[in-house]
Amino acid sequence: MKAAAVSDYRELARRRLPHFLFEYIDGGSYAEATLRRNVADLEAITLRQRVLKDVSSIDLSTQLFGQSLAMPVALGPIGLAGLYGRRGEVQAARAAQAAGAPFTLSTMAVCAIDEVAAAGVGPFWFQLYMIRDRGFMRDLLAKAKAAGCSALVFTVDLPVPGARYRDVRSGLAGAPGLAGGLRRFGQTLARPGWAWDVGLNGRPHSLGNVAPVLAGQTGLEDFFAWIRDNFDAATTWRDLAFLRGAWDGPIIIKGVLDVEDAREAARSGADGLVVSNHGGRQLDGALSSAAALPAIAQAVGDQITVLADGGVRSGLDVVRMLALGSKGVLLGRAWAYALAGGGGAGVAHVLQLIEAEIQVAMALTGVARVGDIGPDILAG
Ligand code: GLV
Repeated sequence: MKAAAVSDYRELARRRLPHFLFEYIDGGSYAEATLRRNVADLEAITLRQRVLKDVSSIDLSTQLFGQSLAMPVALGPIGLAGLYGRRGEVQAARAAQAAGAPFTLSTMAVCAIDEVAAAGVGPFWFQLYMIRDRGFMRDLLAKAKAAGCSALVFTVDLPVPGARYRDVRSGLAGAPGLAGGLRRFGQTLARPGWAWDVGLNGRPHSLGNVAPVLAGQTGLEDFFAWIRDNFDAATTWRDLAFLRGAWDGPIIIKGVLDVEDAREAARSGADGLVVSNHGGRQLDGALSSAAALPAIAQAVGDQITVLADGGVRSGLDVVRMLALGSKGVLLGRAWAYALAGGGGAGVAHVLQLIEAEIQVAMALTGVARVGDIGPDILAG
């Protein structure tokens, strides 16, 4: 199949990945209502078609946190990307750089900060989970700084993992030891292309950034048990002071869905926030990002840079998020599917598609500059 859209890469990813990995990317928590709403609510946002506005020159350039970007889009943090493509984080970071978009490396990545930095990529953001061991956190932040990461994305909506039924059924969660290993191995044998390219030649498969606290294990034996044991569920707004002390660059709080929390984020001295429900992977039944975004942008948009993610599957969706009040958009599944279905070239292609789709959406809504996208391009 020749991919023409993100949805095609989803299908390619489904065909190429071992079942447990596809389900991990594709799935949400509980009944997946919020996951579906993220997509459906965004799709339901209607735009005003405008005509005869001279859209012969469309400018997508964007400033975020003092950096010039080619478009208002960044690759958001995705765990385990080095299992979707061979050294997947490096491949995706290269594709992002070529497109002039920031790449965000997850704490739970396969490739460590150093490996991505050695590929000479940028803009390079780092995503942080609060791990109980603060000494380890300090070291990790120092590594991110030394590697040239220019912003810290602090994820706050995963003090505990949401229940993800698909991961239990597939054998990724709750299946430690030999039985789980064999089950996943069986699914791997059914995908020989992946087994050769990523399974064999993409090793090591450990969680590079957290290797120092893994006591010789890869972290994948029982991924969610490791998260439950090591993420600090006692974290509060007061811990922002610790982060401020250990990180002198921009801090972006990811996972805000409520106006009160957005006000706290603005008061906390953070530079940005991401309106997000973790791609529908945490609190099922929570608002979609598209539904939560306007009130948050209205309340704090003049004090803190508001970004958004959740349900974005096209450049048209990027424009919708901007019209609802965000200044930039993070891609999640869109690039994970592309990496799994088409490697680094797939990620590069998806970024090209998204850029072209943003341009067309701007032209047809009659705006020539990203800064001019606002609620007045919405119909109704
Ligand atoms: C981790 O961040 C996940 O959503 O699985």
